[in-house]
Amino acid sequence: MPTELTLGIDFGTSNSAAALVDTQGRLQVIGLDGLRPEMPTALFFAGETHTVLYGSAAMEAYLSGTEGRLLRALKSLLGSRLMDEYTAVGDKSIRFFDIVVLFFKELKRRCEAHVGQSLTRAVMGRPVHFVDDDQERDMLAERTLGRAALEAGFTEVAFQLEPIAAALDFEQRVTAQTTALVVDIGGGTSDFTVIRLDPVRSQTSDRSADILATTGVHIGGTDFDRLLDLSTVMPLLGYRHLGKGSRPVPNSVFFELSTWHLIHQSYSRRALHFAKELWTDFVDPSLHARLMRALQGQHGHRMLSGVEAAKIACSVSGADARVNLDFLGDAPSVLCATVSADVMHSALQASLAQVVQCAQLCIERSGLAAVDAVYLTGGSSALRPLVAALRLAMPQARLVEGNRFGGVAAGLAYAGALQTQFHHSFT
Ligand SMILES: Nc1ncnc2c1ncn2[C@@H]1O[C@H](COP(=O)(O)OP(=O)(O)OP(=O)(O)O)[C@@H](O)[C@H]1O
Ligand SMILES: [Mg+2]
Repeated sequence: MPTELTLGIDFGTSNSAAALVDTQGRLQVIGLDGLRPEMPTALFFAGETHTVLYGSAAMEAYLSGTEGRLLRALKSLLGSRLMDEYTAVGDKSIRFFDIVVLFFKELKRRCEAHVGQSLTRAVMGRPVHFVDDDQERDMLAERTLGRAALEAGFTEVAFQLEPIAAALDFEQRVTAQTTALVVDIGGGTSDFTVIRLDPVRSQTSDRSADILATTGVHIGGTDFDRLLDLSTVMPLLGYRHLGKGSRPVPNSVFFELSTWHLIHQSYSRRALHFAKELWTDFVDPSLHARLMRALQGQHGHRMLSGVEAAKIACSVSGADARVNLDFLGDAPSVLCATVSADVMHSALQASLAQVVQCAQLCIERSGLAAVDAVYLTGGSSALRPLVAALRLAMPQARLVEGNRFGGVAAGLAYAGALQTQFHHSFT
């Protein structure tokens, strides 16, 4: 057992988590957000006090109406040009890259406070593809993540694929040789691996012979949020509204408003001006007025958070879930949208089919006719229609519900305890 501890960091699109294997060989999952292991990957730059809040404190400050700027889904920017761009927070501007560094500094600080010692070595998770079909940008995303970790104070960094980490965590619970399709469906990506699990081999550092295939696609819970926002809330602001001459209102503003990492773009002076000019395209001026209230009040994250909460509620109960939109100022009348099982089915059908196809491709590439178990992890793996679609596609496999939010971090910690090679720089 190495004397220096290695932190496993799962930097997720929606939530981040961290864990390590201590000197006694025991797994320690860090309580990153109070007692909770997972911390929303969110920062809030409070306008008046110039303070930066992280995790659930950031979400709470934004949702309670504190003036300031919320940033979420930063991982979706990795590999894109936006990473080097500056963005306005209060009276300053800051590079998106430096925002990621701030997040890692805080994460490192919280982990060090938890274990009571300095931590400089990290194994970080990465999705199978940060960016689909573009290897160069994908490599850039990994390098950027590594650079951000080094800048935050880590001196040794290694990477492991997120679905392999999830598999290593699952392996702790299997009692006999098992072939498994590990399904990790998070906020940004859906990742799969077919792996031969064996309790006897779990202490071996090189598992490449047991990893039979990995596949991944850039579809996750944030895409489901966008699709549901576009089918339930955005039409109330004019999306798909047929304007003068039966022309649909230009839709870019609605796409930005319903995409976590692009929302801020719709508040720029230029975007506001463009949206204001759209009034000539609307036959119903009340829809345009509502759109302008949403933009001027910077309610994008609030609407999307409402849709996300309704998605989760409807997924858990199967019943209709309402999204309250009173803050859009339609009083005295009540404005709300509804996420129902039918809406989920129609809005998400095409994306879910792609996710299931990617899972099937993984089994196909493994060369196995079927797997013994399908292990589900990641927050979106609880999505009802997705579980139903996977069950239908793989009727012979045993479906195992896993550690939904902490599994990847735990697996990264196990990988970290065996890891011998680290990067000290990224060029
Ligand atoms: N019960 C549920 N039903 C459906 N979706 C859920 C449920 N609970 C959480 N989610 C969704 O899970 C997602 C977050 O999952 P998770 O924390 O695993 O993602 P992540 O690790 O941050 O993302 P990624 O691994 O893609 O970078 C969010 O989109 C959230 O809305
Ligand atoms: Mg994840």
